[in-house]
Amino acid sequence: MLSKTLVDEMNEQIMHELYSAYLYLSMSAHFEARNLVGFAHWMRIQAKEEVEHAMKFFDFINDRGEKVMLHAIEKPPAEFKSVTSIFEMALEHERKVTGRINHIYDIAVQEKDFASQAFLDWFVTEQVEEEKSALQIVETLKLVGEQGEALLILDQQLGEREEEEDED
Ligand code: FEO
Repeated sequence: MLSKTLVDEMNEQIMHELYSAYLYLSMSAHFEARNLVGFAHWMRIQAKEEVEHAMKFFDFINDRGEKVMLHAIEKPPAEFKSVTSIFEMALEHERKVTGRINHIYDIAVQEKDFASQAFLDWFVTEQVEEEKSALQIVETLKLVGEQGEALLILDQQLGEREEEEDED
């Protein structure tokens, strides 16, 4: 069974993952409004993956015989500045999520809950990828700038992002 502390933390994590989806969906809406359809597409896929992350916690809590309790989800920002600042915000957000995963992992280690540690391993690896992809886009934007052709080429590239196969 899961300890009460871990159930509470994992239930809270469902909210953080769904908030991530909300945040990226809001960013996607912003890009749509600016007619940057590639960036919008990238963020939309990102949002979808966040829902999948939330559902992994949802299923794990159920599988361990505990009850899922959903939290309120905060309203995400709707106004954004530059494209670079949006991806910097995404990177900053992912670093916070990494901190959350590490925090839950730490509790699982202290409690010698090996099943939770095995479950959380997937998230530890995933967070490396999440931070890496946001960082790469931030660095590219800083390199090429946000004007004219460079932005449109990047928009086209990000528009080619494909959905990941669910490994379950
Ligand atoms: Fe679910 Fe982007 O971390």
